[in-house]
Amino acid sequence: MNFKLVTHSPALTETACVVLPVLQDGSLTQSGEALNKATESLISQMVERGDFQPKLGRTFLLPFAPGAEAQRILLVGMGEAEKLTGQKFRQACHAAYQQLAQLSVHDALLTLADTPLKNRDTAWKLRLMAEEAETSFYRFTEFKSSPPEEQQPAELAFYWPDNQEANEGETALKQGRAIGQGKNLARTLGNRPGNVCTPIHLAETALELIGKDPAFSSRILDEVQMAELGMNSLLSVGKGSDQPPRLIVVEYQGAEDKEAAPHVLLGKGITFDTGGISLKPGEGMDEMKFDMCGAASVLGALEVVRQLRPRLNLVFMIAAAENMPSGRASKPGDIYTTLSGKTVEVLNTDAEGRLVLCDALTYAERFNPATVVDIATLTGACIIALGHHATGLLSNDDQLAAALLEAGIDAEDRAWQLPLWDAYQEQLDSNFADLQNIGGRPAGTITAACFLSRFAEKFRWAHLDIAGTAWHSGKQKGATGRPVALLAQYLLDLDAAL
Ligand code: BES
Ligand code: MN
Ligand code: ZN
Repeated sequence: MNFKLVTHSPALTETACVVLPVLQDGSLTQSGEALNKATESLISQMVERGDFQPKLGRTFLLPFAPGAEAQRILLVGMGEAEKLTGQKFRQACHAAYQQLAQLSVHDALLTLADTPLKNRDTAWKLRLMAEEAETSFYRFTEFKSSPPEEQQPAELAFYWPDNQEANEGETALKQGRAIGQGKNLARTLGNRPGNVCTPIHLAETALELIGKDPAFSSRILDEVQMAELGMNSLLSVGKGSDQPPRLIVVEYQGAEDKEAAPHVLLGKGITFDTGGISLKPGEGMDEMKFDMCGAASVLGALEVVRQLRPRLNLVFMIAAAENMPSGRASKPGDIYTTLSGKTVEVLNTDAEGRLVLCDALTYAERFNPATVVDIATLTGACIIALGHHATGLLSNDDQLAAALLEAGIDAEDRAWQLPLWDAYQEQLDSNFADLQNIGGRPAGTITAACFLSRFAEKFRWAHLDIAGTAWHSGKQKGATGRPVALLAQYLLDLDAAL
């Protein structure tokens, strides 16, 4: 898909289909008014007659547009002006793209950027439209023997009012496209089955992504190297599997100062989570192929960075393993010495995410990081607490937490903070080791984060629990690409603050 900006009036622009927003009360944008005039009020008549009710996300196709340069007009309902939010704006864009996919037109002109939207400027809307274009036309067809035909237009033109700075428009398109493609990469990795997407597959994907790009360097630790270092906790998770674990490390140098402290993103990469000897029930277990979505979001963020080149030093890390039961698997009650030297009693082998992340967090110390953010499908309890709308956020640093919350709002990819109070820590007290890997039923998301916090004492750290947001279940089953947009915004904000 080609993207371009168009600054002249949509009424005068040749296109296979112009997409026009209509508010609930029938009011149009400025460019909509111009088109309405050119078509002898065709649009307002459709609304007045009640043929088209512009509720949020509804669409209506005018297959001819006499008087306009467009071959068709696609009306998109935006709902009530006062109730329009960023999230609803996203929904309306998605509905429009779905219709375009059905129409299978060669090109289209989108004019939603001048829809009035509280607290959001034109560039924000354009960026979201570009992101949503990438993600709306996404299909995962790798394993279909006869994949359906491509439905995406060859070219999308975006109306950018000419009273706006053109550079800002180009930047918005570029960012939106990078974020959308980063999300799609994360979705593809998440959607791949566990027999394909293994720890080694994640490592190979990381290497492929960075290619020969001189700003990136990589180091993939195998099980032998990890054993030498003493990452016994991470290794314990992979012991039952025939797929060897990996610690994937990619460094990006974008700051002028080579020595500038890097920001670290660390992803949980359990490529399949059976629970191990603490085996999960069979129903829905297939969805545990998504247990590497934290890792996938780190690679999605890497793709965004590869395209947008922020002036930062970054480290992308993935702790990858497969959690399987077997005669070699770790058992409830087993005790391991972590890379930090702390001993952990594994009371439940299904609480494996924290076991791989703790050693990776300790490993991150060697980078003297400015911040470390880990992203993990860590606890079912997070779904109980926050459902599927917000990512859980816990942090040992209020400023970092605030930056991530703000990034989530800006990117329309929201997180919500839970407390990380000391009082919860005692739920991890073990009779036999320094700590145990589960904290009982109360506050499961918080005690999981408490566990991680014991290995994050030497730096500013935040944890994103994406158990509820990383994928959809049911008919729409599939990875969402969250929280790539949040992470991208966080990095863009860090760059902008320089
Ligand atoms: N990957 C799961 C968490 C999960 C479960 C995410 C369901 C999304 C949907 C994690 O490894 C896990 O099994 N956590 C346990 C922890 C418990 C044993 C303390 C859980 O949430 O049940
Ligand atoms: Mn588990
Ligand atoms: Zn897991």
